[in-house]
Amino acid sequence: MVKYLCSNSEFFNFIFCNRKYMYMKKLLFGVLMLSFLSCNSDNINNQTEESSNNTESLGGSAFKRGCPSEDIRKTALQNSAELRQKYSELEANTEKFTNDLKLGKVLSDGTVEIPVVVNVLYRTSTENISAARIAEQIAVLNADYGGTNTDVSKIPTAFQGVKAGDVKVRFRLANTVRKSTTKTSWSTNDAMKRSSSGGIDATSPANYLNIWVVGNMGQILGYATFPESSGLWNDGVVIAASYFGKTGASAPFNQGRTATHEVGHYLNLRHIWGDANCGNDLVTDTPTQTGPNYGKPSYPLYNTCGGVQRSVMFMNYMDYVDDAAMFMFSAGQKTRMQSVVASSGARSGLRLY
Ligand code: ARG
Ligand code: ZN
Ligand code: CA
Repeated sequence: MVKYLCSNSEFFNFIFCNRKYMYMKKLLFGVLMLSFLSCNSDNINNQTEESSNNTESLGGSAFKRGCPSEDIRKTALQNSAELRQKYSELEANTEKFTNDLKLGKVLSDGTVEIPVVVNVLYRTSTENISAARIAEQIAVLNADYGGTNTDVSKIPTAFQGVKAGDVKVRFRLANTVRKSTTKTSWSTNDAMKRSSSGGIDATSPANYLNIWVVGNMGQILGYATFPESSGLWNDGVVIAASYFGKTGASAPFNQGRTATHEVGHYLNLRHIWGDANCGNDLVTDTPTQTGPNYGKPSYPLYNTCGGVQRSVMFMNYMDYVDDAAMFMFSAGQKTRMQSVVASSGARSGLRLY
């Protein structure tokens, strides 16, 4: 679908790939039927909100990238009443879990280890990433979700109190499936997820986190399905080979954090700016942001939302900064993720193996 592709045409890039115009893009492609996900708060010429996170000041490291997960979700929700039903159950359950946690009813079932199947679709030997690089990526996920990444020391004092620490989710490589292909580029149409379209079929997606590693996806580093897609044929995470693992990956996205970000979506995290100007990520301890941040911002970085000015948490994995500039989840994000892998959660199937 042309919507997610970034072409070489100036006009096309301007309208569809320029972050400043992503809200215009949303308008062009229609209004979401679910009012709570609507884009009504988006406003290109917003006079009252100020942002210091403009793209001009960022050294241009990644200004044309796009993470299409929410857009894809919108389309999928529009097209399926069943998905919409699962979506509202998911959020109702998440809210219930959050309340139970407050009441001290938290499940003391410890850490959930998620079995991972890595599906590698390669055309070149470079794209056929090594077992060592896969191990490296799993290790990054375990460090980032365990809160043992060395850069936690960089979390600003103001956010120390709300850092997640150990999310109590771990990852274990269960299998690697490799398949050669003649395809030079991939899009977000999920072709990589079905053998009938030149991809690799998911391995029991209700029980395994499937990660597809593909060649070039243009400006897109990766994308993910949210938990309402649990167990469906297209459920899982896609990452372009250049941004998977560390050794041999492309700077500034060579610290394995594209997977950290996409698995965050897979475990029900939204972008920290709520995909709208001062939007809502459904997490109370992440400050409201006017939009995504890029490059390597320095703290503090002030945004004003709802008349309140404060520094945003651009170092959160769910922002768009460079790999080296993101190093934390918040406690509220941890709660959302735990809700999903709890025995009552949408992804409880991951606990079976
Ligand atoms: N889906 C997002 C994108 O394609 C991933 C961003 C990940 N960020 C990172 N620093 N690796 O832009
Ligand atoms: Zn994203
Ligand atoms: Ca928030």
